[in-house]
Amino acid sequence: MSVSTAAAARTVCAPLPVLGRDVTVPLVTGGEVAYAALDYAASAPALQRVWDDVAAYAPYYGSVHRGAGYLSQLSTDLFENARRTVTEFLDCRPDDQLVFTRSTTDSLNLLARALPAGCQVFVFETEHHASLLPWQDARVTYLDAPRTPAQAVETLERALAARDPHGPALVCVTGASNVTGELWPVRELAAAAHAHGARIVLDAAQLAPHHPVSVRELDVDWVAFSGHKLYAPFGSGVLAGRADWLVAADPYLAGGGASRKVTRREDGGVDVEWHENAARHEAGSPNVIGAYSIASACRALTEAGFDALVAREEHLIAKVRSGLAEVPQVKVLSLFGDDAPRVGVISFVVEGWNSSHFAAALSAEYGIGVRDGLFCAHPLVRTLLGGDPQTQGECGAPEAAPGEKSLNAIRVSFGAGTPDEHVERFVNAVRELVSEGARWQYRTEDGRCVPAV
Ligand SMILES: Cc1ncc(COP(=O)(O)O)c(C=O)c1O
Repeated sequence: MSVSTAAAARTVCAPLPVLGRDVTVPLVTGGEVAYAALDYAASAPALQRVWDDVAAYAPYYGSVHRGAGYLSQLSTDLFENARRTVTEFLDCRPDDQLVFTRSTTDSLNLLARALPAGCQVFVFETEHHASLLPWQDARVTYLDAPRTPAQAVETLERALAARDPHGPALVCVTGASNVTGELWPVRELAAAAHAHGARIVLDAAQLAPHHPVSVRELDVDWVAFSGHKLYAPFGSGVLAGRADWLVAADPYLAGGGASRKVTRREDGGVDVEWHENAARHEAGSPNVIGAYSIASACRALTEAGFDALVAREEHLIAKVRSGLAEVPQVKVLSLFGDDAPRVGVISFVVEGWNSSHFAAALSAEYGIGVRDGLFCAHPLVRTLLGGDPQTQGECGAPEAAPGEKSLNAIRVSFGAGTPDEHVERFVNAVRELVSEGARWQYRTEDGRCVPAV
């Protein structure tokens, strides 16, 4: 049964209430329209529930792990309860540690700093830069883009079989691509990694907001994700998984909170005993609102039920994909092909259009917010577009003036808060722009297309 038929067979729930659903934006052509936020893959709107929870807690806000007062104690409890809630959400093993970070990027950089000496790292070139780049100080092997999930596993197995079998090794892989939305065979890649004595970290930035993530079932060693993509935009992220490498590493940041005991030495220096729990990598005053908001989002998604959320998202994916398929000038980007299971992240190019121009027209003429560019995954987008990787521009920067051939793509992405009307408006807008052209004039300003007036 195809993904879309499977979705149709299940009950599709209503969108979850999110902030911004009543916001209207002006159109260049006159009037206002309800904003269609279709850039969830960059940052998703806050769940109303998350906002309400944070607002209810805000008067009780206090310092964490460093105050004797009632509100400090309450905030400390809330912070540690948030850790437990997120640990349960991720179905971690009993001995796993969960560190609150700032984001997925922060989490993966933290892990990169905790690699044991001589660690070899294996990463597909298709990764988001947050997964691709933190390993520069290790011995990194970049793996070529696979064209099927099975090829991904074969490629990894081949690379691992050729590695020095005695040293430590880490595989870093995304759960769902931030460009194509396609799901990666995480369980199979984890099995391949473990069979060759390597560990694996899952970049779940695009997976966790859309699908349940079970550390135990997937058998990954670590998982990283960001609150702001999981409807909790308060500046927190998560790294959860095996404690041993984290405890053996120097603290990510040196400072209060990470240190248990600090003493002056006779030679005038300072000795430090660092914590051996998650606090070791959480120096400084913790972001209790960030952690609490992630826990609130985890609870809200669990209560809504991922079965219903996935069914709803597949229904939206089917609408967008079938709508785009009816426009011959549109080419949807894909590594694994039409039948690959995916989340609500779809990138495409439109023949004859510069992507920045197209995205600007969607915004200015239809009130639809999408993203254009290379999505911080330059090698992948270049592979998908068949372009020359040497010519890639800065993340998100267009390379051609309006009307010139596109060297980057447009991405539409959605999730638990997206109503049908938003994706329907999007599909109609694409159809209309392609058949009738833009109704407004645009110019390039600071590398981006903007309405001329
Ligand atoms: C797959 C993937 N990994 C990592 C990141 C980095 O997330 P953040 O910017 O929250 O650190 C992103 C952000 O778009 C992403 O899509």
